[in-house]
Amino acid sequence: MPSFSDTLVERLAAASSVAVLTGAGMSAESGIATFRDPGGLWDRFKPEELANVRAFLDNPTLVQAWYAHRQEIIRSTEPHAGHRALAKLERLVPRFRLITQNVDGLHQQAGNEAVTELHGNILRAYCVDCKAPAEESHLTPDRESDEPEPVRCAACGGLVRPDVVWFGEALPPGAVEKAEAAAAHCEVLLSVGTSAVVYPAAGIPVLAKAQGAYVAEINIEPSAIAGELDETVIGKAGEVLPELVEAVRNVGSH
Ligand code: OAD
Repeated sequence: MPSFSDTLVERLAAASSVAVLTGAGMSAESGIATFRDPGGLWDRFKPEELANVRAFLDNPTLVQAWYAHRQEIIRSTEPHAGHRALAKLERLVPRFRLITQNVDGLHQQAGNEAVTELHGNILRAYCVDCKAPAEESHLTPDRESDEPEPVRCAACGGLVRPDVVWFGEALPPGAVEKAEAAAAHCEVLLSVGTSAVVYPAAGIPVLAKAQGAYVAEINIEPSAIAGELDETVIGKAGEVLPELVEAVRNVGSH
């Protein structure tokens, strides 16, 4: 039995503008660890040791190797039925924006086009000096060598880093503005698989609600902002989203 309300289905079916915010729980069923669930990435690794610019400059080879490892995991994963449902939803709704905190590119792989990446994309890399984009493979250190050298930019010799937002860094220019504009103008917002504790992303559903949108979250447990939203749908993204989008298609306004 679907765990979402008829109101959510009707609002989605009637909406001409929909925004979706996703977090790490969206990719969990593709096999990518979340950050804060037990066994999540921040449980096993200390972010202050790896995900900040100081750590990178102190030990670029270690940080590059950790990201090369995460790139390998992400390259071998695939979007699940929930990602595919969101791609279908984009085709049903006249104005649609998908705002993601994820860096894995799975939404684009599933077919979503209107995607705003708030925290970058781990499959891209760039030179810290000349800012030139680097090849994906450029984060893979030389495994043959006993003392591996950090990967450097082919053009200027600067250190190459992943194109993700680290602790203490600003979000990509324009990303927050685009996300907030979508939240301010949408009629329905879905917040999927995010603990909603990291700002500014966590403020986006609340902004949409304040501007009059119907806001529902889909999560295996209520998030930090659940009390401020219209509806919490308890369930896995990969199970709830296909059912929800199918229900919206069956109502048939789109
Ligand atoms: P978190 O790890 O904080 O939260 C994941 C959320 O997904 C939790 O609320 C889980 O209950 C939920 N969840 C787990 N499995 C699920 C499933 N199958 N279906 C639906 N929900 C599920 O991840 P984020 O909220 O994305 O930032 O974390 C936000 C940011 O914190 C990340 O983007 C990252 C981190 O610091 C940067 O790296 C800049």
